[in-house]
Amino acid sequence: MSRTVYVNGAYLPEEEAKVSVFDRGFLFADGVYEVTSVIDGKLIDFEGHARRLARSLGELEMPNPLTEDALLAIHRELVARNDLTEGMIYLQVTRGAADRDFAYPKDPDPTVVLFTQARSLVDSPAARTGMKVISIPDIRWGRRDIKTVQLLYPSMGKMAAKKAGADDAWMVEDGFVTEGTSNNAYIVTRTGKIVTRHLGEEILHGITRAAVLRFAREAQMEVEERPFTIAEAQEAEEAFITSASTFVMPVVELDGTPIGTGKPGPVATRLREIYLEETRKAAT
Ligand code: PDD
Repeated sequence: MSRTVYVNGAYLPEEEAKVSVFDRGFLFADGVYEVTSVIDGKLIDFEGHARRLARSLGELEMPNPLTEDALLAIHRELVARNDLTEGMIYLQVTRGAADRDFAYPKDPDPTVVLFTQARSLVDSPAARTGMKVISIPDIRWGRRDIKTVQLLYPSMGKMAAKKAGADDAWMVEDGFVTEGTSNNAYIVTRTGKIVTRHLGEEILHGITRAAVLRFAREAQMEVEERPFTIAEAQEAEEAFITSASTFVMPVVELDGTPIGTGKPGPVATRLREIYLEETRKAAT
């Protein structure tokens, strides 16, 4: 069935929604995006995603085309028009169409696109079995805190993982794990401490990360924000990832080495439960 998507102020059947061949998102990956999950027909952490969008746009000197209220209204309209009970809303803002030139256009007219993806997120087979990951070098650009649409290397990483019989890749820079191809990475040490890389320009400041760390601290779990190595992760009791589309997902194997028991561990399992319970309560 055809979806209704949003393009520059209009709600259209997906077949009729078009963007210019001169769009800078297409020509230069000059655009940013957000993915917000929907459970029970409600938005998870909308405010966090709207704020990060504003920050990404600001870092690229791109005007913010929509107020937070207008953005919320579009998200809700798409949920209603597509009868979405569970899945994601993808949002992309580019600097718009202009004759090809490396310099930014003087008066950019941003392109805004949103569409829904229906998907079962809560009842996920991977949450029961855990994921296998491989490590790859992190050769992305240096401003990973800006959520740009330059996703070719993460795509290549995902394909390398698939070829190796794994589900995803963790990226490594200067000997330390930065993050997963589209998620933040964590380990649980033998003493039960949750370790995840500190924030900086090297990783995306995950909205799910912020919520999960808050819930972990509230549940008296110890959290340490610092870099860790692949070797440390292979010796860890547990590992997991977080993102808007996976919530908290256990990782049970890294470069062929089982982590802990090789099965989803109690910390990741508990954090997934807490995250789902708390965010469902707060969903808008
Ligand atoms: N990816 N790190 C990277 C590189 C990401 O692309 C993402 C999200 C995250 C997690 O951020 P959040 O918790 O705010 O979703 C971390 C989205 C889901 C995607 O590209 O589909």
